[in-house]
Amino acid sequence: MNTPRIRVGVIGAGFVGGALVQLLSDESRHIALLDAATASLEVVGVAVRDAQKPRAGIDPALLTTDALALANREDLDILVELVGGVEPARTYIVAALRRGVSVVTANKALMAECGTELSQIAHEHGADLFYEAAVGGGIPILRALRTSLAGERIERVMGIVNGTTNFVLSKMTSEGSDYDVALAEAQALGYAEADPTADVEAFDAAAKVQILSSLAFGTELSGEEIYREGITGVRAIDVDFARRTGYVIKLLGVAERVGEHGISRRAHPALVPVEHPLASVHGAMNAVFVEGAKSGPLMWLGQGAGGEPTATAVLGDVLHAARNRVSGRHDVPFSVDDRLQSVSAGDIKSVFYISLDVLDEPGVLASVAGIFGNHGVSIQSMEQSGFGDEARLSFVTHSALTQNVHATIDDLAKLESVDSVGACFRVIDGGAA
Ligand SMILES: NC(=O)c1ccc[n+]([C@@H]2O[C@H](COP(=O)([O-])OP(=O)(O)OC[C@H]3O[C@@H](n4cnc5c(N)ncnc54)[C@H](OP(=O)(O)O)[C@@H]3O)[C@@H](O)[C@H]2O)c1
Repeated sequence: MNTPRIRVGVIGAGFVGGALVQLLSDESRHIALLDAATASLEVVGVAVRDAQKPRAGIDPALLTTDALALANREDLDILVELVGGVEPARTYIVAALRRGVSVVTANKALMAECGTELSQIAHEHGADLFYEAAVGGGIPILRALRTSLAGERIERVMGIVNGTTNFVLSKMTSEGSDYDVALAEAQALGYAEADPTADVEAFDAAAKVQILSSLAFGTELSGEEIYREGITGVRAIDVDFARRTGYVIKLLGVAERVGEHGISRRAHPALVPVEHPLASVHGAMNAVFVEGAKSGPLMWLGQGAGGEPTATAVLGDVLHAARNRVSGRHDVPFSVDDRLQSVSAGDIKSVFYISLDVLDEPGVLASVAGIFGNHGVSIQSMEQSGFGDEARLSFVTHSALTQNVHATIDDLAKLESVDSVGACFRVIDGGAA
């Protein structure tokens, strides 16, 4: 019997694309790849910006600078997009899908912005669109949600899905460093970009929350506004307060049910109890913690970035698409549950940690406590430390509506005796984040 041949085009040969092409041409994997794909895979072209750059393990004859021509190649079965960003990646993908070519991508920004449209085009043209590596790099979480947990009622998905911010917060925790120092170290080591905005302001984590939520709950894959708070306001003293009280500060991406048809999605820093499995995820590692109604808690941990781990997840998608191609089928995209309503962050209840710098004078505590009371936010514990004419008040509230806590903060900031509101972060407490 003739072994079917599946022709693969790869756009992008950077960290991930370069590692993928090497995995595809690794002789020691040949039998395993053949078996998984039920076909022999042939890389027919690799598109890059600069075809003259030397690239280890890639046959120079495969290189082209015309990515669109590769996407439009008549004999192509699978296009792998590993360029990043929305355009021109979207144009290449649409060109391939419209011709029935299956597409694999690791591009979270693109999927969070155009995923619904692209899934629709893929389905209409009988092609697959897979994007496992878009969340958690090498962690196979999307396929687990899509297949193994397809019949489970998921209550909450909570992840450390951005390695840069986890590296920065881990450094602050282990070394007591300030945010700026930890970020500079992350940049020097290549864990953070020169412009770290997408990571530290939680845009990247929010995009991943959107993708996770679509698979876990059936919300829209793209075009949604996800509530977002970055880590730039986390100070060494907040990390220290957390440590002394049994917590670590993590940037969490959260998607959870609220009542029967409500879904809350958000990305923000939170105090995580040290005994929680997510608290021990250090450095650039990623983890996704899933709570299912019947499965109970589950957690996936692994390399959220890096060429080879990420390429492994991409390769799994390529093999799945190849196998589908051989059997003349494609995966049907998951449907959207129209009954679901997005619950705004202000309507979510949570415990909060709040830190205030105040003038150290009589009556201040009473006026601060009065404002908490005015908004129905009750205080669970309070710590006071003095320095000169000033004092720092650190509160942990009982569970309260986020909008009430924000109104409290607004009013506290107006008090003459309050110099600054230093921190207002959620605390994971029992069921709420
Ligand atoms: N790196 C990770 O750890 C990681 C983890 C998870 C997901 N991802 C995702 O994987 C994707 C690729 O990331 P990466 O880190 O591998 O990026 P990268 O190292 O910057 O590589 C990008 C590649 O795309 C090529 N390229 C850029 N524009 C192009 C164009 N218009 N036409 C053809 N080729 C073009 C570049 O060519 P030149 O080499 O000639 O410049 C380069 O080879 C992104 O979507 C990223 O978000 C990455």
